[in-house]
Amino acid sequence: MKKVRLKVPATVANLVCGFDILGMAIHEPYDEMELRLTESPEIIIKHTDKFGLPEKPLQNVAGVVLLKIQEHLHLKNGFEVVINKKIKPGSGLGSSAASAAGAAIGANILLGNILSKEELVYFAMFGEELASDVKHADNIAPCIYGGITLVKSSNPVDIIPLSSPDLFVTAVHPQVEVKTSDARQILKKNILLKDAIEQWGNIAGLVAGIQKNDFGLIGRSLNDVIIEPIRSILIPKFNEIKEKSLELGALGGGISGSGPSVFMLSEKEELAQKIAEMMKSVYDEIDIDNYVYVSKINPSGIKIIDED
Ligand code: HSE
Repeated sequence: MKKVRLKVPATVANLVCGFDILGMAIHEPYDEMELRLTESPEIIIKHTDKFGLPEKPLQNVAGVVLLKIQEHLHLKNGFEVVINKKIKPGSGLGSSAASAAGAAIGANILLGNILSKEELVYFAMFGEELASDVKHADNIAPCIYGGITLVKSSNPVDIIPLSSPDLFVTAVHPQVEVKTSDARQILKKNILLKDAIEQWGNIAGLVAGIQKNDFGLIGRSLNDVIIEPIRSILIPKFNEIKEKSLELGALGGGISGSGPSVFMLSEKEELAQKIAEMMKSVYDEIDIDNYVYVSKINPSGIKIIDED
């Protein structure tokens, strides 16, 4: 039966100050997904990677998304999905969002593109709910729309695609475990009005900077007075990485999603590579295995490799 193969990119959520509302797609790392429409109604999930993720549809991020789509459309068909995950789960680089968004986009292609992008985000959020107990769309939206996105609202889904400035992203993934659910639980439930005002200024400044291609404004706005001070304690050497990146000339950056990955934005590829080397040496020095990625902002998100 019909099949489609997808390249599903990593995403950096929050973009420092935009907790749960801003995110961007990058090129590396990415997952590969192959989806088939089947005659029988079963949802079959297979992983060819080594992460040992559950394959029962109700326990699998892609599986729950496909079950919701199947139920919503009263489908008699099922889906068979093969996932080769290269975005490590728990990296803070949108691993669960990639499976969820890939499943939604893949199913939609196989069904003749009957769902809108907002609907795809809506269904993919069930995968995020399974992974982290919360339906947040800040990784899913850039995966589906590409580039940088603003989640104006997740209920009802209202996504604003922003410009994709010509910037380089350096991301380091130190091999320490930070679960999104834990990283959410430690956050304060109430914040001070003065902190909220500062954060609103930064978010508005960042969105304006992105739209105006004003790199100085982007850099000045990459500040988080609410989430980063709490979460950064979970990430070894976070302050050192950030300080050294800024000294080298990065525009700014911070925790990628809920961590432990850390990302920085730079104007030039040479600088992004220099920052990558520095990040690597900081973690090598304390014997923490790490992966470093240098990539441009990915303007198109999920890509179809082939379909038939
Ligand atoms: N906005 C989410 C969080 C992203 O920070 O918890 C998780 O990748």
